[in-house]
Amino acid sequence: MKEEILKELLSKKGEFISGQLLSKKLGISRTAVWKHINALRQNGYKIESVSSKGYKLVETPGLLFPEEIYPLLQSEVIGRNIIYRKSISSTSDLAKQIALSREEGTVIIAEEQTKGRGRMGRCWVSPPGTGIWMSVILKPAIRPDKAYQMTQAAAVAVVKSIREVTGLEAGIKWPNDIIVNGKKVCGILTEMSAEPDRVSYIVLGIGVNVNTDLKVASPSLVDRATSLKEELGKEVSRKQLLIAILKNIEEVYFKFIKQGSGSIVEDCRKYSVLLGREIKLVQMDKVVRGRAIDIRNDGVLVVETPGGIVEAISGDVTVRGINGYL
Ligand code: BTN
Repeated sequence: MKEEILKELLSKKGEFISGQLLSKKLGISRTAVWKHINALRQNGYKIESVSSKGYKLVETPGLLFPEEIYPLLQSEVIGRNIIYRKSISSTSDLAKQIALSREEGTVIIAEEQTKGRGRMGRCWVSPPGTGIWMSVILKPAIRPDKAYQMTQAAAVAVVKSIREVTGLEAGIKWPNDIIVNGKKVCGILTEMSAEPDRVSYIVLGIGVNVNTDLKVASPSLVDRATSLKEELGKEVSRKQLLIAILKNIEEVYFKFIKQGSGSIVEDCRKYSVLLGREIKLVQMDKVVRGRAIDIRNDGVLVVETPGGIVEAISGDVTVRGINGYL
């Protein structure tokens, strides 16, 4: 009900709406309206009340409350059900705990993560209110050996969203980093649970440094990581970006499910920051140096090395620059 009241207040765009009208529209008493208004105030919404006019929304707290996201959603499955936390250890940990009992498209989103995780056991710095730290539960009917392609589908969705919302020329550093001006703004962590022949669920963990001040949050990362705010020179609306990401994940994911990975690979190639570059690819048991020459239809990276062609489905890639690999 709090959500319905917020929706009404938001739709009034700073104009008053009377308590009587709210109670009539929502079928609750005026006392109940007043209680919900107070609950919204407790969540940081500034709501003016004037006895002859009613209630007016003056300021929102700038947080990613589902009540503010639902009315703006442009997706039908992804984000229809949002679990919101002010602070959490890791959205992906919670997603994995509940995945089997929740419907596909459920999203866990937090203002802050205290134990955000990156790939290869790294930590992911997630300070409060500055980024998008979220995990999406997917249940695709695919074989486990195809699950790595989901990372690339998600990367395409995030790149498109950043471009749409900020105009920045974001690119993909295969397989899971989103880069702006040579530095990482987003990482994707794909985890799954599977039976031998089919995936039970996939959790797409997405972390975007939106307005994060990395100089403060993590000084050791500033050579390699950045935020959208830093690159754009002004704050970026997390809400707008989140809505765009949910919409684009839905588009790309269902295209992938219906038409296969070939349907997204054109975008993977178009947005790749690796193709044609000298790279170093670190895998669990080996290091490969060579030129990235293609991303195949199945998402495999093809590297031309002095010893021949190497094909990879995962690994950590750095690009050779003047001062070594970055
Ligand atoms: C990486 O680049 O290594 C992947 C980073 C993934 C970070 C996100 S933030 C939301 C989700 N929860 C986590 O603990 N990690 C992912």
